[in-house]
Amino acid sequence: MPLRLHIRSTLLIIAATAALLGLGFSTLHLLKDRGTQTAVNTGAADRFAPPGTVPIGGPFTLVNHEGRTVTDEDFAGKYLLVFFGFTNCPDVCPTTLNDIAVALDMLGADAKTVWPLFISIDPERDTPDLMAEYVAAFDPRIIGLTGSAEQIATVAEAYRIFYEKTSVDAYFESDPTQRDTSEPKGDEYFVSHQGQTYLMSPDNDYLTHFNFGASADEMASTIRLALSTLGRPDGEEK
Ligand code: NI
Repeated sequence: MPLRLHIRSTLLIIAATAALLGLGFSTLHLLKDRGTQTAVNTGAADRFAPPGTVPIGGPFTLVNHEGRTVTDEDFAGKYLLVFFGFTNCPDVCPTTLNDIAVALDMLGADAKTVWPLFISIDPERDTPDLMAEYVAAFDPRIIGLTGSAEQIATVAEAYRIFYEKTSVDAYFESDPTQRDTSEPKGDEYFVSHQGQTYLMSPDNDYLTHFNFGASADEMASTIRLALSTLGRPDGEEK
């Protein structure tokens, strides 16, 4: 079916899952006040979902920022940090990618136990070259992934990420004070999208997620907790 209808038809499932996980579905990308965001699952022992219990994640085929076709199997064997966005994003994406970069620095040598993936939900504009340039600006360890509209729709559905093109005017409608005078006008568009970052197991099972506004320290300490309680990937010794 047409991409548009396909996305619509899966909205209910996505919304139900998002509600279940407290992902703040209705806020999409529009929340900019970090203070209103609360991290969920901040306990220790119950921090991670048992493997296979949360229907988030799944097989994908995408194109990496070197222009090579890759699948989820290329990223097996390490933990995954999975974040969706677009290079033209005015706020959530650069903030989150910066947090991920700082978290990787905090992890030191343990950073090699994680693949940080940034998946574009704007495949129309985000070419592999653009993705390469963009992720490198934050951290060369971040892997930019894009693909065809259909490939992106498939992976976004698997990860329960809703996204939608929106005019720049509409994007800032709820809070015009956030609008920078340099923001594009006219027929330029943004893409509203959910801003959570997933932590997936080395088997690509959902473990937990970080809402937008979670600190780099929270990401790093949660990954450390996963390493110490769930194990290091590939039988790697501590
Ligand atoms: Ni964004």
